[in-house]
Amino acid sequence: MLEKLKLRNFRCFEALDAEFASTNVIRGPNAQGKTSLLEAICVLLRLQSPRVSSLAAAIRHEQKGFVLDGLFDARHMQFYLGAARRKLALDSVEQKSASEYLKIGRAVYFSNRDVEIVRGPADLRRKFLDFAAFQVDSAYRSQLRSYEKALRSRNLLLKEPRPNRRQIAAFDGPLVAAGDYITAARTRLIAALQPFAEEAHKDITRSAETLSLAHRRGGGADFRRTLEAATGEDLRLRQTTAGPHRDDLHLLLNGRSPEIASEGQQRTIALALRLAVCALLAEHAGRPPLLLIDDVFGELDFERRNALLKRLPAGSQKFITATDIAWMAPGEARLFHLAAGRLAALTKPPG
Ligand SMILES: Nc1ncnc2c1ncn2[C@@H]1O[C@H](COP(=O)(O)OP(=O)(O)OP(=O)(O)O)[C@@H](O)[C@H]1O
Ligand SMILES: [Mg+2]
Repeated sequence: MLEKLKLRNFRCFEALDAEFASTNVIRGPNAQGKTSLLEAICVLLRLQSPRVSSLAAAIRHEQKGFVLDGLFDARHMQFYLGAARRKLALDSVEQKSASEYLKIGRAVYFSNRDVEIVRGPADLRRKFLDFAAFQVDSAYRSQLRSYEKALRSRNLLLKEPRPNRRQIAAFDGPLVAAGDYITAARTRLIAALQPFAEEAHKDITRSAETLSLAHRRGGGADFRRTLEAATGEDLRLRQTTAGPHRDDLHLLLNGRSPEIASEGQQRTIALALRLAVCALLAEHAGRPPLLLIDDVFGELDFERRNALLKRLPAGSQKFITATDIAWMAPGEARLFHLAAGRLAALTKPPG
């Protein structure tokens, strides 16, 4: 559990010091920093933002860098990011690599834009998978980086005025090695998510509809062969046309594409996917992940909001943001009010 958090120069927060309980409800009007606060917690634990790929965007305007500092499960986690360097520390010991640091906390971020995972482009589904994969497989991050590096180099060569086939083929080896790793990891992940997603979906809808997940491999059944066979096409289109960068997570509701499903059905599928990741991480780490739930209640009727709150895994620490909380059934939650980057506790810390 995240007991304490300090932020310096992170997005709209100049300085923030807070103590949290196991369920935290953060109320505040628009543009006051709710998403930024949840983002900060996610970056502190996972060194990645759920909303942007470059963390530099989170440095407060006109400032040189941000500091995130937290006490999580009695471990002191610190992360500094500046324009030119980044620094990580665990219990005040500077870390050269992120590997020990990333073993400590796991998080699942629920966003009010999650419906885009269901109906948006494939890269959103790949991001969804990757964010989960980083948390169950410590080698995944470096394999994905290697793949992206080889892909960029290969694509640059393909874009040259007179592409050289031998130079291009030199990148096929590293591309296939990392690509095969990514493909196998994603296939395993999707298979592991399937029963959890199906169960969560049945649970929320209380219907007989079945949600199923499948891996559509952008590199075909045999990536090396597909890549070789596609060389002509790659030279014509001046880009690598096959590989895990073209993967998709194929979703089916009762055997049909959810593209034609209703808005509410699509939202439910997205929710089931996030809950499936929670269940998988809980199984993997032996305890549930921290949940960051950003303004997802607005679209649901009051009854469903409280039903969803009850459906969230017990034992997980929760951070829930909302513009309005009048509907919420009083519980154990600690309430906060956030305005202009200032967080005020409305109820006392526990104990
Ligand atoms: N790097 C930055 N430096 C300073 N301010 C920033 C930075 N990035 C974003 N902001 C500002 O932070 C404010 C808070 O944004 P945030 O998305 O956290 O609000 P929110 O409370 O989640 O709002 P909503 O209810 O509309 O989702 C916004 O006014 C935004 O422009
Ligand atoms: Mg927001």
